[in-house]
Amino acid sequence: MNNVTPMYTFVLRDDNSSVYAEVSKILIATGKWKRLKKDNPRFNLMLGERNRLPFGRLGHEPGLMQLVNYYRGADKLCRKASLVKLIKTSPELKDSCNWFPESYIIYPTNLNTPVAPATNGISHLKNNPKTDEREVFLASYNTKKENGEGTVWIAKSSAGAKGAGILISHDATQLLEFIDNQGQVHVIQKYLERPLLLEPGHRKFDIRSWVLVDHQYNIYLYREGVLRTSSEPYNSSDLQDMTSHLTNHCIQKEHSQNYGRYEEGNEMFFDEFRQYLLNVHNVTMETSILPQIKQIIRSCLMCIEPAISTKHLSYQSFQLFGFDFMLDENFKVWLIEINGAPACAQKLYPELCQGIVDVAISTVFSLNADALSSSPPFSTSPSLSSSSCSSPKLRAPQQFGPFIKL
Ligand SMILES: Nc1ncnc2c1ncn2[C@@H]1O[C@H](COP(=O)(O)OP(=O)(O)O)[C@@H](O)[C@H]1O
Ligand SMILES: [Mg+2]
Repeated sequence: MNNVTPMYTFVLRDDNSSVYAEVSKILIATGKWKRLKKDNPRFNLMLGERNRLPFGRLGHEPGLMQLVNYYRGADKLCRKASLVKLIKTSPELKDSCNWFPESYIIYPTNLNTPVAPATNGISHLKNNPKTDEREVFLASYNTKKENGEGTVWIAKSSAGAKGAGILISHDATQLLEFIDNQGQVHVIQKYLERPLLLEPGHRKFDIRSWVLVDHQYNIYLYREGVLRTSSEPYNSSDLQDMTSHLTNHCIQKEHSQNYGRYEEGNEMFFDEFRQYLLNVHNVTMETSILPQIKQIIRSCLMCIEPAISTKHLSYQSFQLFGFDFMLDENFKVWLIEINGAPACAQKLYPELCQGIVDVAISTVFSLNADALSSSPPFSTSPSLSSSSCSSPKLRAPQQFGPFIKL
């Protein structure tokens, strides 16, 4: 391999991304890729910094096909407030979406954002770039309280991450005051009060799935996923107890006395969870859980496709997303948030990053390189082919290395 002359060039401009550090190593090891200095504009591939991408300058180098590892506009899905707005206003989702907890966009009062009236709030949201939905929230809060439908809500900062800046409360005034004391837009969301809990230990968890969108807007779900588990019992009578309610890895690691007691690193991978569901609940992951996950991923990504696709642009994008879900006690899947620059569980890096190279990068650059295209653009993992049981012929086209095409 290493005596092949490099044919393609890339720049790596994000020193903090562990995924793209690994992708860069894999590219160099192929012998086909050469890394350029950060500011060299003559690259084929930019592994860029998420928030500082020069999209406008891409695709203007004569004779160069340019690919970048983010979609311009994908933040519509990845900021909590924009996701709420998208789900409520997009024609494809607004009536059919029953997998996202009821949510409202709230601006601190000192920002003087126009407040939507309690009724007809959606049209206000549609017609204004910024809308504070506190009146609509209060109306729903009160209705639910009167009907005994649950009074717990969660406030989270729109740009927040890692479980920071979150308040869970029964008290609408307290939630609004919490936001009014902050500088930025928040979301108030119905708290899922009856999550499926893991035994032993009566513990909450969330599910992370990795999703790759290639330059043709093909959507691929990484076959492996991980549960991030709490290591403290779920305690619905103490909403302040963060380790019991927030399953973020850093919260558990820093604050739980029992971190690592049930699962190494508070992580349970899909194979173990598949067995657990079957043994304890007689529920099949493949038929009960994964179809819901796939449908949510498809709905979210397809509704922004017209706005962000690069199919007809002078440059191309691909992007890795992290979709986070929760399960309730009826095995219903709920979308919690979408991360546009996800990290990866430690043991999955080699396979996931090789998959990114094979599916999203090599497929673009082997097109006009006859000398290099003799090897297939992706390799089908042996474990996958042997496990695809009854009808391998039907399933084969759906699998791309470690990915399932949606
Ligand atoms: N609607 C909800 N119901 C129940 N738990 C939730 C809800 N939203 C978030 N959580 C819990 O809080 C954690 C952090 O929320 P999340 O929206 O992912 O924000 P962050 O960006 O801080 O990770 C989630 O991992 C989950 O454990
Ligand atoms: Mg999260």
